[in-house]
Amino acid sequence: MFLSILISCKRKEKDGNDFYQKKAKETNEKVLDAIGKIYFEKNCLKCHANRGAKDNYLENAIKNDRHEYQFLKNFITKQDSLLKSKNKKALALKDWSNNNPYLHDFNLNENEIKAILYYLKK
Ligand code: HEC
Repeated sequence: MFLSILISCKRKEKDGNDFYQKKAKETNEKVLDAIGKIYFEKNCLKCHANRGAKDNYLENAIKNDRHEYQFLKNFITKQDSLLKSKNKKALALKDWSNNNPYLHDFNLNENEIKAILYYLKK
């Protein structure tokens, strides 16, 4: 009897923690999404279609995990150095865009990049 009360108490406590953890996680995700949206709109929307737009190649690439994080980070912050070191994926993307002369060289930190990627992936 005592044991079963103890167990049910423990369970309640656990459920409570799960509830708050879930809420905290949801809040974090909302904040990340909102920050990503701000950074995306400020920096990328000039050239890239908005999230949810039809045939959005950037959004599709992120959603389908076409690139590793490290590549994306380098591509966004120093595309020229990827091209100089003859990175195959970077060269292929340039070829695909008919050698569009634009080079991504954003001064964004990891958190900002991760927020943008989170926003696009959602
Ligand atoms: C001035 C225009 C311009 C801006 C601003 C811009 N991009 Fe791009 N982006 C391009 C072009 C053009 C390509 C096609 C590849 C190339 O030519 O380098 C591209 C391609 C990409 C790709 C590769 C997509 C694929 O299909 O794999 C990623 C990732 C990317 N951009 C991320 C970003 C992010 C994130 C931002 C904002 C922080 C941004 N870009 C801002 C023009 C731009």
